[in-house]
Amino acid sequence: MSSAGIDAGRLERLTAAHREGFGAAPTLAARAPGRINLIGEHTDYNDGFVLPAAIDRDLALVASPRDGRRLRLRSLNAEGLADLDLDALRPAGAWHDYAAGVAAQLLAAGHRLGGLDLTLDGTVPLGAGLSSSAALEVAVARALVAANGLDLPDRDLALLCQRAEREFVGANVGIMDQFISVFGRRDHALFLDCRSLATEAVPLPLADAGLALAVCDSGVKHAHAGGEYNRRREECAEAVALLRPRLPRIANLRDVTPAELEEARAAGAFAGHDLAYRRARHVVTEDARVERTVAALRAGDWGTVGAALYASHASLRDDYEVSVPEIDALVMIARETPGVLGSRLMGGGFGGSTITLLRRDALPGFAAAVAAEYPRRTAGAAEATVYPVEIVDGARVATIG
Ligand code: GLA
Repeated sequence: MSSAGIDAGRLERLTAAHREGFGAAPTLAARAPGRINLIGEHTDYNDGFVLPAAIDRDLALVASPRDGRRLRLRSLNAEGLADLDLDALRPAGAWHDYAAGVAAQLLAAGHRLGGLDLTLDGTVPLGAGLSSSAALEVAVARALVAANGLDLPDRDLALLCQRAEREFVGANVGIMDQFISVFGRRDHALFLDCRSLATEAVPLPLADAGLALAVCDSGVKHAHAGGEYNRRREECAEAVALLRPRLPRIANLRDVTPAELEEARAAGAFAGHDLAYRRARHVVTEDARVERTVAALRAGDWGTVGAALYASHASLRDDYEVSVPEIDALVMIARETPGVLGSRLMGGGFGGSTITLLRRDALPGFAAAVAAEYPRRTAGAAEATVYPVEIVDGARVATIG
């Protein structure tokens, strides 16, 4: 019997591991997906637009309440037991910080938590730009909310998970990843306004159109907390400060159009600050590309969608400077492969994955081209993997047993 969207075989494996590890039968199951982002990169923390979708790579868990004030976690993907004291949660520089951070935020928000044992199984590759961290946060949040009978609306749950990553883990992320993990909808992308948090589900009839979305993991790992990500945020703030004397109404880059940016530059707003100008140009043109992509999807104009992906990549590479040679090589290989409509770096950058829109029948050719060309163009430094993704529903929790 499947539960919370976890298939029967996996649920059985998790249940057996939980019994063995904790000597108790699990009473609840939760699942939260990773995500792709079709377009809208580094726009979320500028209050802009994004267009992500939840994928069939996820974090599944089972859990059982326990006496006392400990949160204990075992993962089928990692050795050992994380045994955390709910009254003394501190970051440890480990994978379970994302779970501990969620518990810490729930406590900080005044919720009462009892002890919980959790057994986890993740299929979102780590550091690949697919939001393994948000999947972990959201699944654990769902489990803690259900186990403790808390009343927490979905939107608040997503925001709380974001705070966990910002304040506990120290990565100053936007809201995209947590939001899509909660609100994803099968065969739809989510057009999210990161200021108002208003959403529109945009149909992605890939199969009907004979198309597919493929993730290509560069094998180069990134780390948000590493500093570059947070630095980009500061550079955007600097651009806003430079623009404000001319555009006093703006709160952040979301409020600036590409034309206004160019006018301000022509008037000297960025004299001596070319870097801030280029960062801003990425953000304001990317917001425009998201809107263009949504309109193209609604019109079934996949060619325009693909062109927007390539344009997004060029902007991330040249203006925002978050790409690496390996990712550029993957986009180039995609470009040279017949049947590919568009491709770009996805997620925070500095490694991770590309997302590629292509004809379904072009998948084997693309995988073969990557296998042949990637090692040659990157001197064999990293290994790339290509896999198609299905678009699935957001996080679920269910009682079991
Ligand atoms: C990471 C962050 C998101 C977003 C992307 C870049 O995935 O978690 O909030 O900023 O990078 O678009």
